[in-house]
Amino acid sequence: MMKLTDRFGRTVDYLRISITDRCDFRCVYCMAEDMTFLPRNQILSLEEIYILAKTFVELGVKKIRITGGEPLVRKGALELFQKIGALNGLHELVLTTNGSQLVTAAPILKVANVKRLNISLDTLDAAKFKELTRTGDLQTVLNGIQAAKKEGFERIKLNAVILKNRNHAEVGDLVQFAIENELDISFIEEMPLGIVEKHNRAEAYYSSDEIRADLETRFVLQRSKDKTGGPSDYFNIPNTRTRVGFISPHSHNFCSTCNRVRLTVEGRLLLCLGNEHSVDLKKILRSPNFTSENLKQAIIDSMEIKPEKHEFNVKEQPIILRYMNMTGG
Ligand code: GTP
Ligand code: 5AD
Ligand code: SF4
Repeated sequence: MMKLTDRFGRTVDYLRISITDRCDFRCVYCMAEDMTFLPRNQILSLEEIYILAKTFVELGVKKIRITGGEPLVRKGALELFQKIGALNGLHELVLTTNGSQLVTAAPILKVANVKRLNISLDTLDAAKFKELTRTGDLQTVLNGIQAAKKEGFERIKLNAVILKNRNHAEVGDLVQFAIENELDISFIEEMPLGIVEKHNRAEAYYSSDEIRADLETRFVLQRSKDKTGGPSDYFNIPNTRTRVGFISPHSHNFCSTCNRVRLTVEGRLLLCLGNEHSVDLKKILRSPNFTSENLKQAIIDSMEIKPEKHEFNVKEQPIILRYMNMTGG
């Protein structure tokens, strides 16, 4: 079996695919308010995404996470999940979503062999939810979470990006909600991708250690050895089914164990979320001399430029000018 290994000895077996840059929300940490989205001819077709997914699985990828933008707003997304979910050799097809479409999508995702869902939820306060997402509706997402629970996915994890003075006081209530609903929850330190007006990332920084200390006034957190193949450090809360994860790109760098690469909807293979190193796979796919061997070789060669670590610094202007919706996190 082929393996993708980089210069630092890290094996890449996890591919994150952003299947659209579009979204029905406009979260303040993710997008500018007046985003322009990519025109149709610049984005990969669903067929092209499938070919790439299949190729990566042939190269040893075991886990594929579908992201966006909001993946479920793309027409045909569910058929694509079904096809990718059936790929031989893939262990896990998982999805990150904002939850807005889950009431209708959850049953189909289950049939498509999606194993786990990550659903973004930063607050339980409807007014604050509107502020943070600019266009989202809390109740719709809560209904979506219930719909997903009913389908019995292996696990559902909430993702909360915590911003000082906006939602940091809610971390305890979010954990309580996770416990009551038997969900996992990860708290995420905001990453500086793209420039967002009226949003100062240095001021908004709230570290995982601060969150943990806040939580420990109300819950017992026991360090867990669980790994999901993602960057979260997990803690168990005794006598509950809930794991609390911390994704701490600033305070606890996890790059040395990085096992993933990202495919943007423009067909750019990004070797690191926090760097611009990339390979244009769309160009290869659409070249008149396309062969699957060329494509495979380009992916194998790309391992040579995978950076050692991200270069995020919240105090300076972002060096990464693309927004998170281009990358899917
Ligand atoms: P699992 O562990 O598979 O459940 O998922 P995950 O937590 O890795 O994925 P998810 O899509 O839920 O992303 C949660 C957060 O982790 C997002 O803010 C991502 O941007 C962040 N994240 C995921 N991978 C990386 C990475 O390689 N580097 C950095 N800096 N952040 C990452
Ligand atoms: N920093 C950290 N996480 C982010 N997300 C979106 N933008 C950012 C950012 N700038 C999160 C979303 C979602 C996940 C895919 O990434 O909330 O949960
Ligand atoms: Fe949409 Fe997710 Fe970005 Fe929010 S974080 S605007 S839900 S893509």
